[in-house]
Amino acid sequence: RSEPIEAPEVKSEAAKKVKIGIYFATWWALNVVFNIYNKKVLNAFPYPWLTSTLSLACGSLMMLISWATRIAETPKTDFEFWKTLFPVAVAHTIGHVAATVSMSKVAVSFTHIIKSGEPAFSVLVSRFILGETFPSSVYLSLVPIIGGCALAAVTELNFNMIGFMGAMISNLAFVFRNIFSKKGMKGKSVSGMNYYACLSMLSLLILTPFAIAVEGPQMWAAGWQTALSEIGPNIAWWIAAQSVFYHLYNQVSYMSLDEISPLTFSIGNTMKRISVIVSSIIIFHTPVQPVNALGAAIAVLGTFLLSSDCTRLGNFNTPHVIYDERTS
Ligand code: 3PG
Repeated sequence: RSEPIEAPEVKSEAAKKVKIGIYFATWWALNVVFNIYNKKVLNAFPYPWLTSTLSLACGSLMMLISWATRIAETPKTDFEFWKTLFPVAVAHTIGHVAATVSMSKVAVSFTHIIKSGEPAFSVLVSRFILGETFPSSVYLSLVPIIGGCALAAVTELNFNMIGFMGAMISNLAFVFRNIFSKKGMKGKSVSGMNYYACLSMLSLLILTPFAIAVEGPQMWAAGWQTALSEIGPNIAWWIAAQSVFYHLYNQVSYMSLDEISPLTFSIGNTMKRISVIVSSIIIFHTPVQPVNALGAAIAVLGTFLLSSDCTRLGNFNTPHVIYDERTS
């Protein structure tokens, strides 16, 4: 009995699916671990400006070592590259620090429920700031996102305004980050991994003076003593873990941008939020009321609808779009 011969394109299609599956599984797993250590650190050492800075510093250091040891190829950049990266880095810094401030005030799950509404912000910014118009199906999918997030927010047992606003500011900043990336990277040839490395380094330079101004060494020293007496030396390992995992999950997500379509990316990102929401509720024993969970489910469903609609229309501002343009 002869074996059926498989066409090479079927095999390579299957290999691509396996590769993307591995990227996604890695991205989500790294993100879940980051979120858990990040929250453990913030519970014991509530200085989100410092921990955000350390995440960027750790990633920058890891990449400098990778370039020096030739584990990764050093990117060829010029002044123009850094100039166009600057607004992206400002938005990345704001989005990152705002999300961390949010998580220092509310449950991780709540921050991510609000962050699942990021694609809705993309539509609103495109409509009201960039003047783009969309078919009514796009506006209709904003109803479950905004309604679901609102329902989850009003029924959140430990609601906190700074926590809520932090997640909202992060959404807005990341939409601008994606818009600026799309403009800035057109025609450039820097890999996803190196693009994210440069972004981390520039963001670190931007964030450091603000972290010192907002919190500062005196607060950090006092907080460190308290954290050390409550947790012990393990607190240093938790900070190291959250910093390393922050860099790794972002690096893998930017690397996957080289491989997948905007639709796959945005669906993957929303599914990542589901894994974080569910695992953090289990790990931190977050109290959830049924109506609260219903709000989150409606918001996430709305995001899936919106992602597929916008991508079908070719009008979706994910960072991925820049790579499509670059490689085409
Ligand atoms: C951060 O600290 O930058 C946020 O946790 C980012 O969240 P996201 O990558 O899941 O959007």
